[in-house]
Formats: sequence, C-alpha cells, structure tokens
Amino acid sequence: MDSIIVEGNGPLSGQIPISGAKNTCLKLMTAALLSDEPLTLTNVPRLSDIRTLSTLLESHGCEVALLQGGRVMVLSAREITNRRADYEIVRKLRASFNVLGPLLAREGEAIVSLPGGCAIGARKVDLHIMALEKLGATITLEEGYVHATAPNGLTGAVIEFPFVSVGATENALTAATLAKGTTVIRNAAREPDTVDLAKCLVEMGAKISGAGTSEITIEGVDRLHAATHQVIPDRIEMGTFMIAPAICGGEVELLGGRRDLLEAFCEKLEAAGIDITETEAGLKVARRNGAVKAVDVTTAPFPGFPTDLQAQFMALMCTAEGTSTLEETIFENRFMHAPELIRMGARIDVHGGTATVTGVKGLTGAPVMATDLRASVSLILAGLAAEGETTVARVYHLDRGYERIEEKLSAVGAKVSRVKADG
Ligand code: UD1
Repeated sequence: MDSIIVEGNGPLSGQIPISGAKNTCLKLMTAALLSDEPLTLTNVPRLSDIRTLSTLLESHGCEVALLQGGRVMVLSAREITNRRADYEIVRKLRASFNVLGPLLAREGEAIVSLPGGCAIGARKVDLHIMALEKLGATITLEEGYVHATAPNGLTGAVIEFPFVSVGATENALTAATLAKGTTVIRNAAREPDTVDLAKCLVEMGAKISGAGTSEITIEGVDRLHAATHQVIPDRIEMGTFMIAPAICGGEVELLGGRRDLLEAFCEKLEAAGIDITETEAGLKVARRNGAVKAVDVTTAPFPGFPTDLQAQFMALMCTAEGTSTLEETIFENRFMHAPELIRMGARIDVHGGTATVTGVKGLTGAPVMATDLRASVSLILAGLAAEGETTVARVYHLDRGYERIEEKLSAVGAKVSRVKADG
C-alpha cells in the first residue's frame, strides 16, 4: 500500500484548484438510474469512490462513459438489467445504498445490500427504509439485503425524519420524483449536496421546491429526461486546504472556493485568527501574524460546522494557543485520529463525544495511520506543522476523497510526496 511522506516546513504560498464535490457527485450519479435518457455530469472529481460507484451502476445496466480525462461523465441507463446491488461493492462505499430509491422508483423493485458499519460508527439505514415505506414500498430484510418492492409504483406521502440524515433525505428525494402525487419531506437535510441533487433532478424534469430548507416538496412526474449538470465545488476538500496555510503559515488561494458552502467553518477559522477573503477566483486564506487561537467547535448538520472537517480542525487546534473543546454530534466514533495526533505530541483527551485539545508549542513527525478518509488527511495537515518527517500509511483512504493531494499541496510549497508500495 502506498504511503504519503510529509516534511514539516515553512509558510505556504500559491493556488490550489478545488475539485468537484465527491459526495454530491455520488448522489448525482445515482439519479441517472431514474431515466432512460443520459445524464451528463461535468466537473467530476477523479476519485476511487467515483470509480466504485461507476462499477455498481454498470452492474445495473447503466453505461458510464468518461470524457475529457474523466472530468465529464455520461451515464445512460436506457434499461435496468439488474435490480440487485451486491454486498461486494456496497460494503466498500456506503453511498451505494442510494441506488435503492432510484431503482425502486423506476423498476418497482430493488435488492440492495446493507452497507454494514464503518470506522466512524454503526451508521444505520433505518431512516432510508422508513422513508421508502412511507412512499408505499414493502421492505423485507433477506440475508443481509434490503428487498424493496412497489409493483404498482410509489405513492407520494409526508415523510418526517426524527433527525437529519443526508443519505436518507436523498434516497427519499430521488424516489419521490417518480411517485404518484405529492411528497413532503420534513426535517430534510439542507446540505449543499442535497440542494445540488435537487437542482439536477429539476433539470431532468422533476418538480421539486424547498430544497435547501428543512421542508422539501416533490410533485411526482411520469418520467425524467436527459440533462447536463455541473457538480458543485467540494466544500470538504476546500475546508481541508484552508487548514493548510492556517496550520503552517502563508497565504493560499483556493480556486473555485465558495464561502457560502462553508460559512460556519469559515467563522471558526476567523475566530482562530485566520484571514479569509473572497476573491474573483475563489477564496484566499492567510495566516499572517501571531499564534492560532483555541476555538470550540460542535459539529452539526448544514448550515452547522461539518463533521467531515472536525478531524482537520482538531489538527489545527493541536498547536493553537489555549484549550479547545471539539464536540462531535453526528457520528459516535469519530475521534480515531486523536490517538495518532497524540503520537505526534498533541495533548488530547477524549470523553465520549467530546475531545479537549490543549495546544502545544510544536508537533513532531511520526509514522501514523488512519482508519478513515478525513482522519487520514488530518494527519497530513498535522505533518505540515510538525518538526521532522511524518509517514501516513493506508493512503487508499485518502484516494477515496482527495484528488492528487500530494500534487496540490506540493504546488503551494508543502513537502509532501507519495511512496509507492512497490518502490
Ligand atoms: C453523509 C456524507 C458524509 C457526512 C454525513 C454527515 C455522503 C456520501 N456522505 O453521510 O460524508 O459525514 O453525511 O454530514 O454524502 N443515521 C441513522 N439512520 C439512518 C441514516 C442515518 O441513524 O437511516 C444516523 C447516522 O448513523 C449518523 C447520522 O444519522 O449518526 C447522520 O448520518 P447521515 O446524515 O445519514 O450521513 P450519510 O448520509 O451516511
């Protein structure tokens, strides 16, 4: 397995282009199953998660063509040839579970493997199932698979989620586009990913209002048609790269960066003493003078502070002046990076869903590894600020969600390189 080697060094300077959003793109790809006409996506990120979902869609009979070096993807699901999503693929990528809504809505049947747990928590799918049952599906669990049927099609209904789930909102949203009548989703996710999915569905002919608020209304239509849609910038990649100059100084411009996608996070960075300015090309982030200040953070659904940036923010807090409290409210086991950061000299106490971080003068490089995508990248960020060399193992986690991370960071002066497993 490849490793990434980071050498701590001085201020960064330059520009980093932000890729299309992984999580958004995955959900947009599942929408292609709703129509027998092609869906063309532009600004597609080149990531292993995207390839994994492509393989799954192909297994359902959807043709996936990549153009312009993988930046443009044309998905044509003229005919669904297989309604079963296999465990072998779904276990690798939880977002695969979001083929359930589209397959069921179009075919009246879907058999999708339960994704199982993952490093950051149990991650149940009960809300996805509840939502589809409200739309009239009959759902049984058979040998690890969810078997959903609606032989006469789905029917619009009121779906009220007890708490916000991005994935369940999106499964309900896609399924409801082809249901008979009106669906209202209450306590819906307001994430930019969900809003972009709704926008794409509207471009495909769906009738949706209220996306971006906690109540989404969908008028079912008979069919959806061809569309071309541009994937929004990846706000989590953007937030990750905003931490880089914050942690080791300098000024970096994020090309295509958008503050509106990450307001809560930007406010916390500013409170820590980081300058953020909107430019014509994106966002400029600078740490000019003095130490970073300790800032408390509580993760929450959008527009709150994203759980997917908690690990990276913790890396920053490790060298901040003072003590900060980071509270994780979305996933029950999302501090796997803390023991690794401690190996680099950080002072972190984890009690349940809360981590208390006391800033230290400096971190030291160490061999580390991580068990999930965002935890891995937090170790690279810590490595940028550490004295000496940090080797991050299990790089495949990073390749799931960060496109050419070593190239992007090297371009702004960071000393980051990849060591191939075989050499
Ligand atoms: C999505 C993102 C992920 C992000 C998360 C929260 C994708 C591909 N992934 O994941 O990067 O960290 O949103 O912003 O878009 N839950 C249940 N029952 C369910 C569904 C969820 O109990 O049926 C729980 C989860 O275990 C978790 C919480 O609800 O504790 C929120 O999860 P959810 O918003 O569904 O996350 P995902 O859609 O899986």
